[in-house]
Amino acid sequence: MKLLITGATGLVGKELVQRTLSQGVGVHFLTTRQSKINSIEGAKGFYWNPSLQEIDMDCFKGVDTIIHLAGATISKRWTSAYKKTIKQSRVETTQLLLKGVQDLSGDNTVTQLVSASAIGIYPSDFDVTVDEETQVSPQSFMEEVVIEWEKQCNKFSSLGVKVSKLRIGLVLSEDGGVVGTLKIPTLFGLGAAFGNGKQGQSWIHIDDLVSMFLYVIEQKLEGVFNAVSPNPVSQSRFISALAKAINRPHVFPPLPKFLIDLLMGEMSSLVLDSHWVSSKKILKKGFTFKYETINGALDNIFSK
Ligand SMILES: NC(=O)c1ccc[n+]([C@@H]2O[C@H](COP(=O)([O-])OP(=O)(O)OC[C@H]3O[C@@H](n4cnc5c(N)ncnc54)[C@H](OP(=O)(O)O)[C@@H]3O)[C@@H](O)[C@H]2O)c1
Repeated sequence: MKLLITGATGLVGKELVQRTLSQGVGVHFLTTRQSKINSIEGAKGFYWNPSLQEIDMDCFKGVDTIIHLAGATISKRWTSAYKKTIKQSRVETTQLLLKGVQDLSGDNTVTQLVSASAIGIYPSDFDVTVDEETQVSPQSFMEEVVIEWEKQCNKFSSLGVKVSKLRIGLVLSEDGGVVGTLKIPTLFGLGAAFGNGKQGQSWIHIDDLVSMFLYVIEQKLEGVFNAVSPNPVSQSRFISALAKAINRPHVFPPLPKFLIDLLMGEMSSLVLDSHWVSSKKILKKGFTFKYETINGALDNIFSK
């Protein structure tokens, strides 16, 4: 097996690359930074420039599966220019991969695309649990981005390539992400939920996420799968579990919604939206989670 991974230098990509290399899998990766081409020992890096639709076609040599993780971070201020970057970095990268595979024509060896997607595709709801059958429509910026991203991925089917999309929840990792952001105020005893704190937080431990990517490949699963643990929690529970995991008190009441809206603008949806997301579909396919509870996941992260 040989993989081509985009976004391999990011939070999820780094873990995925290390796991696959340790299993003796061949890894090619695409990076937008020339300086990173030789940055991963044991893997072969290639340069691409998605906004100019430039790609080193050698990246596809002998590859059977593409894992597509590339995308500009959503944790930077959503100015109108940056919103464009968030969307284009997902849409244009997918289009460029598609064009690359198309141009290989008879030399193509790629049989599966497994792309990151996000639970931000679902409408925010404080009560209803959503699953892969839930209707989606572009009501918010994030919904619009993810719908378009998945639409571009689906085009690989016309080339005879299996398409799998993992709608990822909040990734818990010792190396940053949501835990890194929330850990700092919590360390000072200032951890607080946002809004009423009742919003659903559908999270996944990074080890389980990496295992799920590999499971979808091994089992040749096609379609959409929610990549979230079986036990989402309210944001208040999430913050108190985090405080407990790092042995800090959790005494602060939730921060009022108007203040967050004022400070964060449209981006406040990242902390105020509620997503109770089901993982039943992947469980029914036989996948097992190593970290099923928030306390177990956070204890593992902070014991490292
Ligand atoms: N982490 C989460 O909680 C979470 C939740 C839901 C969905 N996801 C999705 O899962 C994927 C991986 O997440 P992550 O947390 O690992 O992301 P990350 O740490 O931000 O890394 C993403 C990678 O994408 C590449 N990239 C950045 N800006 C780009 C641009 N403008 N054009 C093309 N490539 C660009 C970078 O690789 P190079 O610099 O090497 O090019 C970067 O290392 C992302 O698409 C993200 O939206 C993540």
